Amino acid sequence: MMHAFLPEKKQGYCVAVVGATGAVGETMLEILAERAFPVASIIPLASSRSAGSTVEFSGRDYVVQDLASFDPKNVDIALFSAGADTALTYAPRFAEAGCYVIDNSSAWRMHDDVALVVPEVNPESLKMARKNRIIANPNCSTIQMVMALKPLHDAVPIKRVVVSTYQAVSGAGREAMTELAEQTRNLLAGQAYDNQVFPARIAFNVIPHIDVFLDNGYTKEEQKMIDETRKILAADIAVTATTVRVPVFYGHSESINITFAAPMDAETARMLLAEAEGICVVDDPSGEDYPLPSEAAGTDAVWVGRIRNDNSFKNSLHLWVVADNVRKGAALNAVQIAEFLISRS
Ligand code: A2P
Repeated sequence: MMHAFLPEKKQGYCVAVVGATGAVGETMLEILAERAFPVASIIPLASSRSAGSTVEFSGRDYVVQDLASFDPKNVDIALFSAGADTALTYAPRFAEAGCYVIDNSSAWRMHDDVALVVPEVNPESLKMARKNRIIANPNCSTIQMVMALKPLHDAVPIKRVVVSTYQAVSGAGREAMTELAEQTRNLLAGQAYDNQVFPARIAFNVIPHIDVFLDNGYTKEEQKMIDETRKILAADIAVTATTVRVPVFYGHSESINITFAAPMDAETARMLLAEAEGICVVDDPSGEDYPLPSEAAGTDAVWVGRIRNDNSFKNSLHLWVVADNVRKGAALNAVQIAEFLISRS
C-alpha cells in the first residue's frame, strides 16, 4: 500500500492554480471540476496584469489574485502553469510553505531530485516528491509519446526513436491562438497581418522551430523530448526529434518511428496499445480511420493509429499518435498527479 502524500481531509483540499487566466490554467480549473477533485477552496493566481479579473470554477466566478503578494501557507496543492521563470521563483516558496507544487513548465523537469511524472507510465517516481514537494509535468509532446512507447517498451526494449511533431498553437498559449485566428482572417480578407508570438506567419504555413535554438542545432523543444523521454522511461534510448508548429488550434500529432532491441511487429503492438490504460487505438485503413487532432481535441485519451511495420529496417515500427495537448499534454496530466497525491490505494 502506498501512503497518501497528503493527509485525508473530509472537507477537501485547498488548491491554488497559478496561471489561472491562461489556456492551460483555465483547463486545469475545468478538469478539477469535471473529475470532482475534492476541493475545499480554490485560489486562482496570475500576474498583477490580471489580478482582480475573474475566472470560473464549477459554475461560480472567483477573483484572480496577484501571485507576487500571495501567502501560500494554507495551500495543499498548487498547480502551476505560468512559465519557467515564474516556476523557478515561486515553486520553491510554495513548497517551503508546505504545499505540493505540480509545475507544467520546463523549469524543474530535468532536476535530478524532481519527479517527472506521467501517472500511467512512471507513478513510482512520485516518491521523490516526498522530500522536496515539487513535481514536474512533462512537455506536452513528451507525454503523448511516452504514453505510446511505454507498453511497447515493457514488452520489448526500445533502442531508438525518431519523432516528428505537428504541434497545435494552443501549446504556445492564449495569445498564440489569437495570432492564428487573426492572421487567418486577415489573409483571407486580403489585409495586412503581423506575427508577435511565432517566428514566422503561422496561418497557412508550418514552422520547424519551437522554443529557442541550441548550440547543437536542435531546438529546445526537441531537446526536451529527447531528455524527458529518457528520464521518464529510465532507459538509455536513442531519441531524435524534429518539432514543428502547424496551424491547428488544439491537438498535437506525432509521427513516431521506433526500433526495438528484438522482434516486434505491428499486430503485437496494436494489441499491446489497445490494452494500455489511457490509449485508444483507431487504426482501420480500409475504413480510412486514423487519429485526427480535430477529433482528439476535447478528449482525455492518447489516440494511436497508422500502426505498421517499417519495411526499411529490422525490428522497427511506425505509429501516428495524437492527443489534446492542453488536456493530456498539460492540465489533465497535472490533475491526475494531484489525484495520486491524495489517493490511498
Ligand atoms: P496573466 O493573465 O496575468 O498574464 P498562457 O500560457 O495562456 O499565455 O498563460 C500564461 C499564464 O501565466 C497566465 O495566466 C499569466 O497571467 C500567467 N503568468 C505569466 N507571467 C506571470 C507572472 N510573472 N506571475 C504570475 N502569473 C504569470
